[in-house]
Amino acid sequence: MSVKILMVCLGNICRSPLAEGILASKLPKDKFTVDSAGTGSWHIGHSPDERSIAVAKKNKISISNQKGRQFSKTDFDAFDYIYVMDNSNYEDVIQLAENQQQKEKVELILNELFPNEKVDVPDPYFGLPNGFEIVHNMLDEVCEIIAKKLIAKHT
Ligand code: 4NP
Repeated sequence: MSVKILMVCLGNICRSPLAEGILASKLPKDKFTVDSAGTGSWHIGHSPDERSIAVAKKNKISISNQKGRQFSKTDFDAFDYIYVMDNSNYEDVIQLAENQQQKEKVELILNELFPNEKVDVPDPYFGLPNGFEIVHNMLDEVCEIIAKKLIAKHT
């Protein structure tokens, strides 16, 4: 059975689609499934932001077939690991949890790189164009750590 990992941000068009594509590229497909979702509903059914598609493509990852969806309570049981991009995503997701086991699945993604420091992956949506490059590099670094951990634990 596949180990399931969910990446969550606010819109599901900038950060979490990139995180999904990057982590999926580092894991064997037969053992792991990676998906993403947004806490907000604005971009349901939308493709990722073109700036995320471009920075992924530059790094040989295709995310253009992804479609935005909203995080739902059913995701707590459908996924084994839920990584959120920032502290506000963390609050939004934790509020929907119904028990301790569900809460324990949720982790701020950069805590894997900077334990307990609660560092955000900044939202690049309204920022400078190179914000997407910065977000890509942060996610690439942390996904390398996450992939190693998951492979060691589950294969
Ligand atoms: P994301 O960025 O959470 O990284 O996908 C955002 C994209 C769109 C919006 C907010 C954040 N929005 O408000 O439309």
